Amino acid sequence: GLAAGLDKNGRCIDGLGAMGFGFIEVGTVTPRPQPGNPKPRLFRLAEDRAVINRMGFNNQGAEAACARLATRGSRAGVVGVNLGANKDATDRIADYARGAELLGRYAAYLVVNVSSPNTPGLRALQDEGALAALLDGVLAARGENGPPVFLKVAPDLEPADISAIARIAQEKRLGALIVSNTTITRPALKSARAGEAGGLSGAPLRDLAQARLIDFRRATGGEIPLVGVGGIASAEHAWARIRAGASLVQLYSALVYEGPGLARAITCGLEQLMKRDGFATLAEAVGVDVPC
Ligand code: FNR
Repeated sequence: GLAAGLDKNGRCIDGLGAMGFGFIEVGTVTPRPQPGNPKPRLFRLAEDRAVINRMGFNNQGAEAACARLATRGSRAGVVGVNLGANKDATDRIADYARGAELLGRYAAYLVVNVSSPNTPGLRALQDEGALAALLDGVLAARGENGPPVFLKVAPDLEPADISAIARIAQEKRLGALIVSNTTITRPALKSARAGEAGGLSGAPLRDLAQARLIDFRRATGGEIPLVGVGGIASAEHAWARIRAGASLVQLYSALVYEGPGLARAITCGLEQLMKRDGFATLAEAVGVDVPC
């Protein structure tokens, strides 16, 4: 799948699908349009095969996204919609609920994104009390027959946060956990731009995102599907993530360095790795390296 942040406004879903992605995550979409942070706000760290961004949820707002998704009708392709709050929202929970209400009918799944480092205070919504209230609001707003709700988490979580999130995810019967967003940590980096503020993605995030996926698999006892994302740039990386417990994988940053053929190369490569290791389906391989 294509991770959130590339097609924030749902402008090129079919083109991205034609590049070989099995599913596209549109967004982050906020209720009202907003410009995001001042430029420059996106940096390539080529020596590190990484990206730093502090875009700040630049997007055209939920109504524009609805209008685009509505014109697609029932065209092929699985499209998820990633929801956020406006920077100046007075009631952030109400913003997520509004997004769910407007966009639920066009989405195969909705994502509650509480892990962007570029909206001040947003990640505090991952805290236990706030998270339960937020998910109640979104689940009520998406309605009885609405799509499943996923939660996207940061890789920079402590063990106590992980157990609390896992417990709430189970209590609220979330459809999946997406692990993970970008990191605010800075593992050893070579590039001159390494000191830029924002979230780091790409190769230096890979081990951290893989470790967090394993943490969440253990914490949920395999009861909640996991979406693995962070630093995936090859079929081998995707395969390792699946074997560690990911039912789905996504990527974004590696497209910059590997080019538009990457999704197709990974899906073909995965088929070979699956056969090499003696699995008839990908589903059989989910979590084999991390029994729980
Ligand atoms: C992102 N990401 C992101 N995530 C999200 O939930 N909402 C968003 O709007 C964005 N925006 C965004 C912009 C840019 C420029 C980048 C590079 C990333 C995070 C993204 O979906 C993903 O979780 C991380 O980038 C880790 O995966 P990769 O890039 O290492 O494959």
